[in-house]
Amino acid sequence: MIRCAIVGVTGLVGSTFLKVLEEKNLPIDEYTLFASIRSKGKEIEFMGKTYIVEELTEESFEKTHFDYALFSAGSNTSEKFIPLAVKSGTTVIDNSSFFRMHDDCPLVVPEVNPEDIFSSSGIIANPNCSTIQLMLPLKALNDKFGIERVVCSTYQAVSGAGQAGIVDLLDTLKGKKPKKFKYPISSNCLPQIDVFLENLYTKEEMKMIEESRKILHLPNLKITATCARVPVKNCHSESVNITLKQEASLKEIYDCLSKFENIVIVDDILNEKYPINDLASGNDKVYVGRLRKDFSAKNTINLWIVADNIRKGAASNAVQILEKLLEHKENM
Ligand SMILES: NC(=O)c1ccc[n+]([C@@H]2O[C@H](COP(=O)([O-])OP(=O)(O)OC[C@H]3O[C@@H](n4cnc5c(N)ncnc54)[C@H](OP(=O)(O)O)[C@@H]3O)[C@@H](O)[C@H]2O)c1
Repeated sequence: MIRCAIVGVTGLVGSTFLKVLEEKNLPIDEYTLFASIRSKGKEIEFMGKTYIVEELTEESFEKTHFDYALFSAGSNTSEKFIPLAVKSGTTVIDNSSFFRMHDDCPLVVPEVNPEDIFSSSGIIANPNCSTIQLMLPLKALNDKFGIERVVCSTYQAVSGAGQAGIVDLLDTLKGKKPKKFKYPISSNCLPQIDVFLENLYTKEEMKMIEESRKILHLPNLKITATCARVPVKNCHSESVNITLKQEASLKEIYDCLSKFENIVIVDDILNEKYPINDLASGNDKVYVGRLRKDFSAKNTINLWIVADNIRKGAASNAVQILEKLLEHKENM
């Protein structure tokens, strides 16, 4: 009997967990759905059954033994409840940023560093959404050509800020005052995601930098990021400038990227086709296009990368990790 808890099930990422789990139909016998006291008793249709949402409490992991738990309820909830889950023998996949940089906690993108999953002492962290989509092309290029330096600028959707981000876009489009963002997101690009740090970067930018180094096992990777919130409902876009360690033709780069699991190349400028949000929204692929040489620097290219931040950037990546854990258990 395999039991799985899903925490934060009423949120944007949590509800997408349910969608992805239904699509994959993993060998899990029993699910329990948790959220805060606000959602206690709410009915949710899942896997052809009606589930009643339970309040997550300090006793939740004592009362029932869960083999696995998917957490997506913010850092404070993760900090408080995940140690209790791990103590009771549950393997946790966490979407919050709380454990990501802990040494004993692997940070995993399954196409990139799947082997790290099995070095976990109970918690496996899901990276930040903007980091996840960057990792697939960087891993492909680093394995083949080596990477010297990365400059990433993001154009991040409001859904990255949860349900409240979407509400702020819709409200400010109607002229209402913003509640989630500092300025009306309907008419502005905001070069601030999360708080500012002492080094003048935002926390989101430093997450991208530090998480990339950890996932790629390149602690000295030269990488910088600027993260912006834009008036788009879903999917993050990234403009990425990459200096390779060796010369490569555009054809060699296309070949390398197109062979990598879950990368889709869309780059047909004659027909004005390139990765856009509407293409990526609702699926788990990482779309890459606008590949061209940066003629201002040696061995350097530009790319445009788009992915669904709620699916590949959060829920689907976590469910892929769960899938790998289940396969490993089956093969033991
Ligand atoms: N949105 C993204 O693109 C994205 C990407 C990667 C990672 N993440 C991370 O995923 C997490 C959730 O994000 P989201 O976008 O889904 O946010 P959201 O839409 O605001 O949902 C938050 C969820 O957390 C639950 N929750 C809050 N406090 C809780 C508590 N004390 N106990 C149990 N459940 C609690 C909420 O339940 P109630 O409905 O009962 O309040 C809700 O289900 C965050 O850590 C976020 O950083 C988000």
